[in-house]
Amino acid sequence: KVYTDYFFDEPAYNTHDGGYIPLTTPKIAPQPLVIPPLLEPDKQTATDDYYTVEAQASETQFLPGKKTKTWGYNTGFLGKTIVFRNGKHTHIDLKNALPELTTFHWHGLNVPGPITDGGCHAPVYPGKTNHIDFDVDQPAATIWLHAHPCPSTALQVWRGLAAMVLIKDDVEDQLPLPRNYGVDDIPMVLQDREFHEDNQFDYRADYDPDGVQGHTALVNGTVNPYFDVTTQRVRLRILDGSNRREWRLHFDDGLTFAQVGSDGGIMPAPVYMDKVMLTCAERDELVVDFGKYQPGDEVTLMTDDTPLCHFRIKAFEPDDTQLPDHLVDIEDPTPTPGLPVRKITMDGMDEEVAMDGKKFDMQRIDARQKVNDVAIWEIRNTNSTKNGMVHPFHVHGTQFQVLARNDGPVYPNEHGLKDTVGVNPGETVRIKVQFKLTGVYMYHCHIIEHEDGGMMAQIESYDPDHPKTYHLMDMDTL
Ligand code: C2O
Ligand code: CU
Ligand code: CU
Repeated sequence: KVYTDYFFDEPAYNTHDGGYIPLTTPKIAPQPLVIPPLLEPDKQTATDDYYTVEAQASETQFLPGKKTKTWGYNTGFLGKTIVFRNGKHTHIDLKNALPELTTFHWHGLNVPGPITDGGCHAPVYPGKTNHIDFDVDQPAATIWLHAHPCPSTALQVWRGLAAMVLIKDDVEDQLPLPRNYGVDDIPMVLQDREFHEDNQFDYRADYDPDGVQGHTALVNGTVNPYFDVTTQRVRLRILDGSNRREWRLHFDDGLTFAQVGSDGGIMPAPVYMDKVMLTCAERDELVVDFGKYQPGDEVTLMTDDTPLCHFRIKAFEPDDTQLPDHLVDIEDPTPTPGLPVRKITMDGMDEEVAMDGKKFDMQRIDARQKVNDVAIWEIRNTNSTKNGMVHPFHVHGTQFQVLARNDGPVYPNEHGLKDTVGVNPGETVRIKVQFKLTGVYMYHCHIIEHEDGGMMAQIESYDPDHPKTYHLMDMDTL
């Protein structure tokens, strides 16, 4: 079966927003897609990996003419790709070479909150280096790193503080999936930016409390990219790394592809489709089979009607590897008996955004859940179905399962683990959440301006036998 719909509620697409900024087709000639280099470990042993991740200011050539002032991790814009291995103890020096404080948030990684997790309680001051170390304890996945200082996450991400992180494991290693990084296993960070005078970003000028957008699409920071296809099958690890933009992806000729992974890793089964939509912070791993093309052909990945990336077909060896009908088993824990359903609302738009009717307060713990309990959460987007927005709901420190949309089935590509789920206006989405570690974790809308604007709350995962107290920062101590 091939799915041919976008899955989300059409009346809620960002294209209907009053403030929608349409993407324009780039006027510059196609350029090779930037493939972020892999970050070299400082040291590796059989059991431990050591990395240094440095947030730095730099300049990046996006367009002809002046370079753009940007921020990045170990590189000018975005970051080098970091590889973690399931089962390894991982040590990271977090170096802040920026002129202001930042944090290093591991979006999608199951690590203790709030410090290792790197949300707003874990500032690294300018010129300083913090150290974290943790066990990687989750299946192979495409996750990411981004800045998370409250309330300037959106501005720092806009400047470039976002990088891809790949988790590898023995299960995924055995699957017939492309995994030659940069050749047939390609990260694609989708973002949009506005270029002002002298090709500079100007976040304040573009500010919109419902999410900042720009007219120019970037893939890994490349304007109008092309990618040379040298293998029949290519795996695209797509991240919606935009502050606000949704991407409705399809090829210009309707080529069918298979989604094999979502936020938390490989899905139980591939889903065949010719269109897919991502909301902010979601990841989709797609396997594209270019077998029907000839060298010299070109097929273009589009979002709505704007070209995003040109795939130029080169000569390749035939590879008719079929994806198995079953890929992996995912953990499916039974809900803990007797727990009430946790009800959460995502409210408002613009400056009015709130979570459960309240603005985020760094010093307030809004909810508690016992470590290892498996709880049902019901997230309701209280926006009107006529002119509301899709709010991407994200939880730190866990990968959850999506159980139902308005008591009905979930989308076909939501049967894997997720850490972010788009909730349509007026819709209630039911998820199953387990924290395996203790800590204070944030949950919020991942339209980053909504998060900064207060559509965010925090939950303590606690162990009654080992109560902990946390030092929570507040805006004034930052
Ligand atoms: Cu992508 Cu609170 O994070
Ligand atoms: Cu996160
Ligand atoms: Cu939102």
